[in-house]
Amino acid sequence: MTKTAFPDNFLWGAATAAYQIEGSPLADGAGASIWQRFSHDPRLMASPGDTGDVACDHYNRMESDVALMKELGLQAYRFSVGWGRVLPEGIGRVNPKGLDFYERLVDELLKHDIEPLLTLHHWDLPVALDDKGGWLNRDSADWFAEYADVLYRALDGRVKKWVTLNEPWVITDGGYLHGALAPGHRNMFEAPIASHNLMRAHGRAVQAYRAAGAHEIGLVVNIEPKYPASDSAEDAAATARAHAYMNRQYLDPALKGSYPAEMTEIFGEAWPQWAAEDMADICQPVDFIGINYYTRNVVRADPAQWPLRASPVKQNATHTTTDWEVYPPAMTDMLLWFRDSYGDIPLYITENGAAFYDPPQAGPDGIDDPLRCDYYRTHIAAIGEAIRQGVDVRGYMAWSLLDNLEWSLGYSKRFGIVHVDYQTQVRTPKRSARFYSEIIRTNGGNLA
Ligand code: BGC
Repeated sequence: MTKTAFPDNFLWGAATAAYQIEGSPLADGAGASIWQRFSHDPRLMASPGDTGDVACDHYNRMESDVALMKELGLQAYRFSVGWGRVLPEGIGRVNPKGLDFYERLVDELLKHDIEPLLTLHHWDLPVALDDKGGWLNRDSADWFAEYADVLYRALDGRVKKWVTLNEPWVITDGGYLHGALAPGHRNMFEAPIASHNLMRAHGRAVQAYRAAGAHEIGLVVNIEPKYPASDSAEDAAATARAHAYMNRQYLDPALKGSYPAEMTEIFGEAWPQWAAEDMADICQPVDFIGINYYTRNVVRADPAQWPLRASPVKQNATHTTTDWEVYPPAMTDMLLWFRDSYGDIPLYITENGAAFYDPPQAGPDGIDDPLRCDYYRTHIAAIGEAIRQGVDVRGYMAWSLLDNLEWSLGYSKRFGIVHVDYQTQVRTPKRSARFYSEIIRTNGGNLA
């Protein structure tokens, strides 16, 4: 039998995010989030009528959901905290009942020997702060550090792995440039400001952690490797722009203290010259980087495409229902690229998974999702390959534990390894969940 590539203490888990699964967004004195506001505006949602009002009702089913994680053999669970549950106005007054929910969740996880990975911000900014300009307001970095500090003081020790932000690129690209995600702005001058303030918020929260916490903190980014469509110089330049915009825009400042030169090329006069003190604030030593990987892009130059002057070229390959190409070798390439560019920083794959059409009903063997099983098998093997080549990957979180609200795309895109019947809230592990349990049990030994 081939020896598994995964070290003995490799951490296997699954991930979710607060607004996507919890439901009851205003319960127990919580303040509304921008996702509450956005999802209730049918003009903004690509899937009008779908909201997070009930979602997976996890807020009321937390204990049984943790029991399910245990049954599946998860060793870790990555979740996010709803900022407005803890601080209804975003800053100032703490809401004890909101904080209590997350304390109970963490205690329940620990009781079941499941390690919590806590993400402080997975996109649900309190509306009270959005009304003050949200991430466009320079004070947002201080707001975030204040909120983070409340959680550090309540939970550090019980939580040993902290994440500041989930995917700042998606927040800015979807929320401030293209308007597909909350808060739904489309403004080329806003996007750089939001990006920069998010990175300042990350830096401030890391600094606050060094004062109040004693374990590990990192940043989660989404990485989508870019490959040129041809050997032409134009395609190479377009690929470099797309790569800088999506993959380096947040890692470079966090880990090197500067933005990629391509940012000015992309945004022109909309890209400001940032103060050196800001860059020093942002570039704080982190204990790990979390990478969310779903797909890759083949890129060609396209002068008509604003602002990147690049477009993706669809490949003749399997695509998910979110139309993402399935291309596992890019996982290995991406991990090697990270190590070569940023050095030996411990890495976690904090999200990886796929939406496919699942059979509407369970058959005698449960819900059969062969494409998702295949996706997990090939992508986890591709991580094993990077580990064999010396990349320090320490854990893997499947996205997602449960089918859930896929943001503006609503409930039709199912990413769960566990099926959720939204009428009855019954959870049914799919075949991929059983397959993943076996990966965990054998530490990847069943992949060969
Ligand atoms: C996000 C998740 C999302 C997933 C699938 C990531 O961008 O962090 O919240 O559901 O991708 O689109």
